[in-house]
Amino acid sequence: MNIIHRRGWDMPESHATPEHLFFNRRALLAALAGTAALSLAPQHALAQRVTDQPDPNIGLYPGKRNEKYVLDRPITDEAINGNYNNFYEFNSTKHVARQAQALKVRPWTIKIDGMVEKPFEIGIDDLVRKAGVEERLYRHRCVEAWSMAIPWSGFPMAKLVEMAKPLSSATYVRMETFLDKSIAPGQKQAWLPWPYIEGLTIAEATNELTFLATGAYGKPIAKQHGAPIRLAVPWKYGFKSIKSIVRFSFTDKRPHSYWEDLQSSEYGFWANVNPQVPHPRWSQASEELIGLGERRPTLLFNGYGDYVASLYKGLEKERLWA
Ligand code: MTE
Repeated sequence: MNIIHRRGWDMPESHATPEHLFFNRRALLAALAGTAALSLAPQHALAQRVTDQPDPNIGLYPGKRNEKYVLDRPITDEAINGNYNNFYEFNSTKHVARQAQALKVRPWTIKIDGMVEKPFEIGIDDLVRKAGVEERLYRHRCVEAWSMAIPWSGFPMAKLVEMAKPLSSATYVRMETFLDKSIAPGQKQAWLPWPYIEGLTIAEATNELTFLATGAYGKPIAKQHGAPIRLAVPWKYGFKSIKSIVRFSFTDKRPHSYWEDLQSSEYGFWANVNPQVPHPRWSQASEELIGLGERRPTLLFNGYGDYVASLYKGLEKERLWA
């Protein structure tokens, strides 16, 4: 039997819906029971944008390029990348850029807590000044089987872990996105597991590739990409790259991610990029290079195996793919 799977890139742009949102029965019933629908409020979004305070660190961008990380494809055009996003807090189509302008990114306070020597809070601008800014070119591959190449600016997450001083018993970092229904209409959908959560082992968090992006394309990061600070873990599926982070909690319990809570049969903690293991509903063997109209075979660990393969030793029985 030939089952045709619907894919984001097969559809007209206006109908694109992230492929990995597959409503489970409970969620669908709750949705049908009448929870709030997405409300588009572009005027509100524009009003918010003009009230944003300027970024005092704007002069630090893009930072010196770290030449160690090279691409095998051209950088994705900024306009294409900035108009093809997943940011469910605003809506679940790729067309989220306009609504995301409602996000107010200054002041922005980040909480560091849990199993650390001393919990503390730090403002985004102090954090960026302390950690510094460098530029890295990374690939980004979504589990929906599309990819982009992005010039991020920011700093290695290892620097934040160092500042946090976790206890030796801490084994994971749990990260949390902002929660504010008044600006993020997606968060009015009570059947979705807000706030958005992601987790890394401490070994992943301190891997040299793990990057906290506060900028992209040579300037402070755009709101649709997760301003003022988002994660970039280029060997993992894009959904691990949590946006607009407000909290890093160190813990000895494996964090449950947003996608696991939504569909645990399809998304797990050890998500990586393993082209040999298909997603339950579609192949992971190749990817569409957004903006180039080209398909390419997907590489194991998205081509970053030299940096991260050791993190997966002994985990062969885990569902590394999902
Ligand atoms: N973070 C939050 N808070 N909310 C989201 O919906 N989507 C994830 C990830 N981080 C998401 C998120 C997914 S599925 C992907 S592919 C990337 O963000 C998309 O990042 P981009 O829009 O900058 O390409």
